[in-house]
Amino acid sequence: MQKENWGTRLGFILAAAGSAIGLGTVWRLPYVAGEQGGGLFFFIFIALLLTVGTSLLLAEFVLGRSTKEGAIEAYRKVAPKGQWHWIGIIGMIAAFLLLSFYSVVGGWITTYFVRSFTGNVTSPPDGDHGALFESITSNPWEVGLAHLAFMIMTILVVQMGIKKGIEKASLYMMPALFIIFLILMVRSLTLDGAWEGVVYFLQPDFSAVSSETFLFALGQAFFSLSLGVSVMVTYSSYLDNKASLPGSAWSVVLLSVLIAFMAGLAIFPAIYAFGLQPDEGPSLIFVVIPAVFQQLAFGEAFFMIFMLLMLFATLTSAFSLIEIIVTPFVRGKEHLRKRVTWAVGLLIFAMGIPSNLSFGLLADFHIFGLTFFDAVDFLVSNILLPLGALLISLFVAYKMKPSIMQEELLRGSRFGKGFYFIWLIMIRVVVPLSIIVVFVSQLIQ
Ligand code: PHE
Repeated sequence: MQKENWGTRLGFILAAAGSAIGLGTVWRLPYVAGEQGGGLFFFIFIALLLTVGTSLLLAEFVLGRSTKEGAIEAYRKVAPKGQWHWIGIIGMIAAFLLLSFYSVVGGWITTYFVRSFTGNVTSPPDGDHGALFESITSNPWEVGLAHLAFMIMTILVVQMGIKKGIEKASLYMMPALFIIFLILMVRSLTLDGAWEGVVYFLQPDFSAVSSETFLFALGQAFFSLSLGVSVMVTYSSYLDNKASLPGSAWSVVLLSVLIAFMAGLAIFPAIYAFGLQPDEGPSLIFVVIPAVFQQLAFGEAFFMIFMLLMLFATLTSAFSLIEIIVTPFVRGKEHLRKRVTWAVGLLIFAMGIPSNLSFGLLADFHIFGLTFFDAVDFLVSNILLPLGALLISLFVAYKMKPSIMQEELLRGSRFGKGFYFIWLIMIRVVVPLSIIVVFVSQLIQ
């Protein structure tokens, strides 16, 4: 039994939405959407989010809140015999590795944010944004320090605990994130020529949709909701018994969709208005966006708040990734939280160093043809996350007591038994099957 809890249901929802809304949502999703059929991809993504994604999110919530335990003990409590707690351990390993390179990008964002105060990011001395990005990311000292700074910010919040740390930070950062997006979206949509970007982002392009699109959309749906790592199990274990789980899940999903949508509408119109092309990978936010802001009145200021927004989005996801590792160590021993958080955070930083150097000193070091950064990303995103998602859905569907599941799902909510049965079919059949399809086809590729 854990002592600490979220102070309010809103705090829980914002923290969970903060975990969901991260680099995957505000940066990768709009880009992939543009490439994979625009509005149609978005439609498929939202449909999957509302069905398969929400079902699995509810499964994690049901497991977390009914057991009130984190990544390892939640599984042990439901199935004391057997090795089921390995699902939690896999999740902790996945979170550890994910944060190790996620924090590298967090470091880049930190550097760009700090540098934007000097005014030389949107207008680099020789006018070449790509060269600036390369020179920054290949400089081990600058990005190393920024990487460390990002991890320390994460640690400083998480060591304060669930209510005083993560919840409080989310209560400030998430509304700020929303307001900044709103400002940027309005600015972007009111530029001359913005419409072309809206079209790129949202016009359904049937020719770009293939079976691959569904795979992308499903993988993205899970990643966007932080599923498969027991993050949502952990967060919901700190939730009181009154809150409605379906209601909370809808709020988290709707906030994620809304922000993803706003991200697309803030980024693409501005890019097209200035005759630039959306580009793949990190270059979109670090090379193309600075070039966009360069041409805007008060561009440096807009860029600064854009980076602040990215920083908030990345930090709130980082909190959840470190918390799932911290929770099992500090359950019932909250006094250890500070020490454990620092130890885990610094280890993650150390693990991230080779990923960081992948853009400089270690650029030529390859594992299966991938740089260290890409290899860790591949292992986490394409193997550990889908595997975790599959195991969690099977575990909840077949190992938990139906009476407990039903009680937990419906308590405090407006839904009746029909909803429970639909959800049951989803997590027993539809969710595992769709993950298996995605998994197998990714491995074949
Ligand atoms: N949901 C986060 C994003 O979109 C990533 C994440 C995945 C965070 C899994 C926690 C757990 O960036």
